[in-house]
Amino acid sequence: MERIRIFDTTLRDGEQAPGAAMSPEQKLDIAEQLAKLGVDNIEAGFPVSSPVQMKAVKLIAENVRTTGVSALARALPADIDAAVEALKGAANPLIHTFIATSPIHMMYKLKKREDEVLSMAAKAVRYARRFTDQVEFSPEDATRSNPEFLFRVLEKVINAGARIINIPDTVGYTTPSEFYALIQAIKNNVPNIDKVILSVHCHNDMGLAIANTISGIQAGARQAEVTVNGIGERAGNASLEELAMVFSVRKDLLHFSTGINTKQIYNTSRLVANTINYPVPKNKPVVGENIFAHEAGIHQDGVIKNRETYEIMSPESIGRDHNDIVLGRHSGISGFKKRVRQLGFKLTSDEFKKIYPILLKTADSKTEVYDEDIIAIVNDELGKKTDTMRMKYFSILSGNSGISTATVEIEDANGTKQEAAIGDGPISAVFNAIDRVTGLHAVLEEFLIQAVSPSRLAVGEASVIINVDGKKFSGKGASTNILEASAKAYLNALNKSKISSESEAE
Ligand code: KIV
Ligand code: ZN
Repeated sequence: MERIRIFDTTLRDGEQAPGAAMSPEQKLDIAEQLAKLGVDNIEAGFPVSSPVQMKAVKLIAENVRTTGVSALARALPADIDAAVEALKGAANPLIHTFIATSPIHMMYKLKKREDEVLSMAAKAVRYARRFTDQVEFSPEDATRSNPEFLFRVLEKVINAGARIINIPDTVGYTTPSEFYALIQAIKNNVPNIDKVILSVHCHNDMGLAIANTISGIQAGARQAEVTVNGIGERAGNASLEELAMVFSVRKDLLHFSTGINTKQIYNTSRLVANTINYPVPKNKPVVGENIFAHEAGIHQDGVIKNRETYEIMSPESIGRDHNDIVLGRHSGISGFKKRVRQLGFKLTSDEFKKIYPILLKTADSKTEVYDEDIIAIVNDELGKKTDTMRMKYFSILSGNSGISTATVEIEDANGTKQEAAIGDGPISAVFNAIDRVTGLHAVLEEFLIQAVSPSRLAVGEASVIINVDGKKFSGKGASTNILEASAKAYLNALNKSKISSESEAE
């Protein structure tokens, strides 16, 4: 078995998914879980890009000691200085520097000639090596670069001291056989390539990220850059859990191993999904809800006789319990506690004490409390934890003709304030009233409301994405009253925008 390094970029490339911004504390929680999962390196952020990014990388570097921690930097001295500053406290720091090498990126984005890019790349690597041995270089948009130029850049940066060469398929353009050929060509045409670890970093624009990653590894790469749940720019990155399970399920064919403890996959997936309010699609490979569900009678019959007729992996192998314990009004505190933990939440006992009565109330009004109810309730409470503005009261008057009116009362550190507003419907009226109280104004980009479980008494969960001055923030709210859930979601997103603008100002 050949060991493949897992370079996790959930907290950097993953966070670049629209609306997935995380606070430094949330990132630390995830980094600790990634260390438990067994990744080899955690790319914690892009320190030069904002003070919040800087703070997050520092926090992770100082607290996560058992796993390598890296920071991203363009091939510019100021970026590398910021990465060095952020990684100062790290036990095992790595600087990841990059510059685009494709004609389209060089001409339109960088406005630089080949010789300028070549020199910037080598200088950046040499500069970064003054601070740490561990320097990784990525030629951005490698798969659309001129191969001859790419080989020259790689030879130069290896001579300058790069230890890892990462080949990104930045726009998810390549195909498995083409990517295999590119990695092989790099091995055959870059004379000093055997001095470095080759890495691959594939995006999923055409759904080929995992296939391309595996091809790259078969061609000789020994590091894969991946994200939990495949989150990332546009269609996302190659997903960590898919890669780990391909190697685990098909070890007969693919003789590669990783340090991943697959039993931590489900927890990690849910922690990331819950933190960024990105639900895992039900049919998502490996971690989707339906992966062990069988609908067709023939399939059910087969599974009853032998699970392996229709299941190539077991729920236990990814740390997912069979939910044979149904939670309801007779379930005790320990049953709820266990399920909350399995769903990826790490609650303090005070937090659990706050949530338990809400869970019991839900259990009292229903025959069964579903995982989705629990996730919605816990997210609602955790969302409020960092929120400085909280809704105390709301009232809405709405009918089927014309204008709706809403009144809200919001509490913050300065006391409570009440405002009323009108709108075309109840949701716009309550959002307008919230804008008036908070003095903030956001463009609503996405709004979704759904019953989280199949029952008339279900908890309703609202999700919003708002845009404040060009930055996106997600928010969630849950309640058996869908108007209350919507108002809470909007206020939750406004709270995040307020926290972000305050941290930027620090
Ligand atoms: O996709 C990409 O090219 C990147 C680089 C910064 C490695 O994320
Ligand atoms: Zn990327």
